[in-house]
Amino acid sequence: MAFALLSGLCALSVVLAVIPDPANVTVVSYNLGVVLEWDYPHEWHENVTFTASSSSYKANKIVCANQTERRCDFTKDVHHFGTYVFKVRAELQGEASRWVNTSDFSADKHTIIGPPGITLYSKDGDMEVELQDPVMRASTLREVYSMVTYNITFWKEGQEEEKIKKNTEQTRLMLPNLQPWTNYCVQAQVYINAYTRNGELSKVVCKATTSNGNVEPGVVAVVLVVSFLVTSTCILLTFFTGRVVYRGLRFFYPNAKLPEHFKQYLIEPPPSSFFVKSIPQVKEQFDPIVIVSEDAVERTDATEEPRETEEQNVEESAKDKIEMEKDLLLLPA
Ligand SMILES: *[C@@H]1O[C@H](CO)[C@@H](O)[C@H](O)[C@H]1NC(C)=O
Ligand SMILES: *[C@@H]1O[C@H](CO)[C@@H](O)[C@H](O)[C@H]1NC(C)=O
Ligand SMILES: *[C@@H]1O[C@H](CO)[C@@H](O)[C@H](O)[C@H]1NC(C)=O
Ligand SMILES: *[C@@H]1O[C@H](CO)[C@@H](O)[C@H](O)[C@H]1NC(C)=O
Ligand SMILES: *[C@@H]1O[C@H](CO)[C@@H](O)[C@H](O)[C@H]1NC(C)=O
Repeated sequence: MAFALLSGLCALSVVLAVIPDPANVTVVSYNLGVVLEWDYPHEWHENVTFTASSSSYKANKIVCANQTERRCDFTKDVHHFGTYVFKVRAELQGEASRWVNTSDFSADKHTIIGPPGITLYSKDGDMEVELQDPVMRASTLREVYSMVTYNITFWKEGQEEEKIKKNTEQTRLMLPNLQPWTNYCVQAQVYINAYTRNGELSKVVCKATTSNGNVEPGVVAVVLVVSFLVTSTCILLTFFTGRVVYRGLRFFYPNAKLPEHFKQYLIEPPPSSFFVKSIPQVKEQFDPIVIVSEDAVERTDATEEPRETEEQNVEESAKDKIEMEKDLLLLPA
């Protein structure tokens, strides 16, 4: 009896020795994907196959059977909140190795959260960071984790030793206290509050800020002076233009009122040429001519009516009188 048992154990050990166990059995879980991977001695046997199963408190389930591939994808067969043990064994010609099992695995707790996507929007000196949740292989990040924080670090390009940290629960964030026209770099990772675990770091994304709209005081002064000069010039121009226009209007529409009859005359053409002709006569000048002749006794009208000045007239008329008297005296009796 004891011998039989001993020989049985020996036979078992021989069988176990024949088919080696799978080695380095690990669960690789990324973004809630669940894949069991293992190693096996390559040189051992080309026709060896593997069977892998999952077991939860509910049930055992063979997911991969009779396969030569050294990995088994359990993603579709596990729930992200469930706890599982995965097992794998090697098989050859009806014989099998021992099951090699993993420790307890929970996808939500143990999976590696990949890097978030980053898009930078630069506008008016500000930089807005937009984060894209990493895409899960099963479900979504927000469905599995009620609380997700983004750890963001940003720095001036080339000054990585002065990284600034910023955490946000939103997927959009305005970076504070940026300098205009400067290249900033941003990197982010997911932080799962429930498990105090960080996701993978994203790639570094850089973008330049633009003008923040604030102008240097010197520029403000120059702008003020220039606008003052322009305004002054405009006022002066308007004033002088006004004056010119006013004068023009005054020229064509004089303020003084013309007498009615004059207006009438200007409007209507003169009824006869008399008035026009008579105007030069007014200006005609006459020099007084005095003819003194001792012989011409019969002369009655010695002078033309003098029209020079009052004084001359008086003088001339006085002279005339004398001459007349002279003439009269000289008249033969
Ligand atoms: C298991 O992993 C270790 C380290 O990676 C390696 O040295 C070893 O060869 C692996 N085992 C097999 C059977 O491949
Ligand atoms: C592997 O299997 C094939 C057919 O299934 C067989 O022809 C071959 O001999 C096997 N190799 C070994 C080493 O047993
Ligand atoms: C594995 O393959 C063998 C023969 O190739 C077959 O007899 C066996 O039923 C298969 N097992 C499963 C679980 O499919
Ligand atoms: C594998 O499972 C067995 C029970 O089924 C357990 O005794 C053993 O500790 C497990 N091995 C590992 C590495 O978890
Ligand atoms: C991310 O932020 C959390 C706080 O929200 C902090 O506890 C954690 O250490 C941070 N991770 C890194 C890598 O800075």
